[in-house]
Amino acid sequence: MRPQPSSQPIRVILKSPAAAPNQPPKEAMPEESATASTPAAQTPPVATIATLAQHDGQTVTLRGWLYNLRESGKLLFPIFRDGTGTVQGVAHVKSVTPAVFEALKTLTQESSVIVTGRVRADQRAPGGFELDVVDLQVVQRVPESAPYPISLKEHGVDFLMEHRHLWVRSPRQSAILRIRAEIMRAAAEYFDQNGFIRTDPPILTPAACEGTSTLFPVDYFGDPAFLTQSGQLYIESTALALGKVYSFGPTFRAEKSKTRRHLTEFWMIEPEVAFMDLDGLLVLAENFLSHIVQSVLKNRAPELAVIGRDRAKLEAILPPFPRVTYDDAVALLNAAHKTGQLESPFEYGNDFGSPDETWLSSQFDRPVMVNRYPANVKAFYMEPDPKDPRLALCVDVLAPEGYGEIIGGSQRVSSYELLSSRIGEHQLPRQAFEWYLDLRRYGSVPHSGFGMGIERAVAWICGLDHVRETIPFARTLHRIYP
Ligand code: 4AD
Ligand code: MG
Repeated sequence: MRPQPSSQPIRVILKSPAAAPNQPPKEAMPEESATASTPAAQTPPVATIATLAQHDGQTVTLRGWLYNLRESGKLLFPIFRDGTGTVQGVAHVKSVTPAVFEALKTLTQESSVIVTGRVRADQRAPGGFELDVVDLQVVQRVPESAPYPISLKEHGVDFLMEHRHLWVRSPRQSAILRIRAEIMRAAAEYFDQNGFIRTDPPILTPAACEGTSTLFPVDYFGDPAFLTQSGQLYIESTALALGKVYSFGPTFRAEKSKTRRHLTEFWMIEPEVAFMDLDGLLVLAENFLSHIVQSVLKNRAPELAVIGRDRAKLEAILPPFPRVTYDDAVALLNAAHKTGQLESPFEYGNDFGSPDETWLSSQFDRPVMVNRYPANVKAFYMEPDPKDPRLALCVDVLAPEGYGEIIGGSQRVSSYELLSSRIGEHQLPRQAFEWYLDLRRYGSVPHSGFGMGIERAVAWICGLDHVRETIPFARTLHRIYP
């Protein structure tokens, strides 16, 4: 660490919070109390790049990494990042000590630094501010002999995924992860504010929820067990105990599919409500999704700008969402085939394939709620439509711009006899489902719920090509490293 030269023109910053009314209490106060024992005048406050606006004209210390460095004669333009954003620094050969100038000039990409400088508003700067560098301490210098592997030129996706532990540092990837966190926060907030109680289902389970073909087996002390595919069956139990519940956690599918929508490990948020029918569920889904999208627009504007997302597309996401029955969707698909927009005709009775969903969801400017699929392409627990028992009271919510399914849900079978025979028809191990049948033996009621995959929602809201960028460490058919 480089000692501060005593001749340095550091501006005096008063340490008392009362003397700095513009500082956000959350970020500034802990740092200030940590330095309370040192003489106040010598230590500039530690700030973050996201809060530089509160320090205009002041000298602050930032802690972060060197993102990029440009040199122009006697001027250096280092770009620093600190996790909250990036800021361009400016250092003139005469404005810093020769040692600081030399250290900065030869600084390597992603070296960690503690940099002190004066915050200056500049309308041309991306974040609206620049930093006139005063001092620099290098925490760890990345050696030239083994440089940071992700240079600022283009890299292939495989290389980037192999270096995902470093790739997450890029401004674009960090922005996506911030938006993901906001989506998760807003999703939980919606349920918390609307009377739902979070109940966490187990991850180790004795049986399938979404069909046996995509289970990950686990050796449970010599007995077979599986990683959960969905918390649904368990939150049906807690819904009958508490009324309105939700679960939020990791779920697993041993999907052999290599598509831009499939992960083997993903996060699902699932509400389940006693006495709710399918119509009620559709209202819940449209209000829930609108709340999430509007929260992202409100709270993650800089990140949406970093990734270049078209805000207008998201601003349109307000209730009501269009409702289309499976039958109507099939008619739309076949009309599209006749006019050459879709390659193959759609055969009534199948589940929609990816091209079908992509085409359907690109016909609307907000999510479309496709409901009442044929029961035999859907899960065993779905309530039949009393008007036509060949159909299930279910919904798939397809996100616009071709993103396809982000939510799947249904009203649940409430009759003991029907559920019991469904378990037989689907050749499920009855013993493992006895507890689930109890929910129909003791005070059964109509109830409904859905599951939203966080990664699919992030891909849509961020406008990404592939779910692999929507989660810190994607698990896919061919990747479990890093
Ligand atoms: O449609 P799914 O399979 O529905 C269920 O699991 C129900 N038990 C949920 C419920 O009713 N409580 O999955 C729900 C959502 C999908 O719409 C999708 O967003 C996501 O989970 N999903 C996946 N996301 C990424 N990769 C995969 N392999 C996914 N499989 C499902
Ligand atoms: Mg589904």
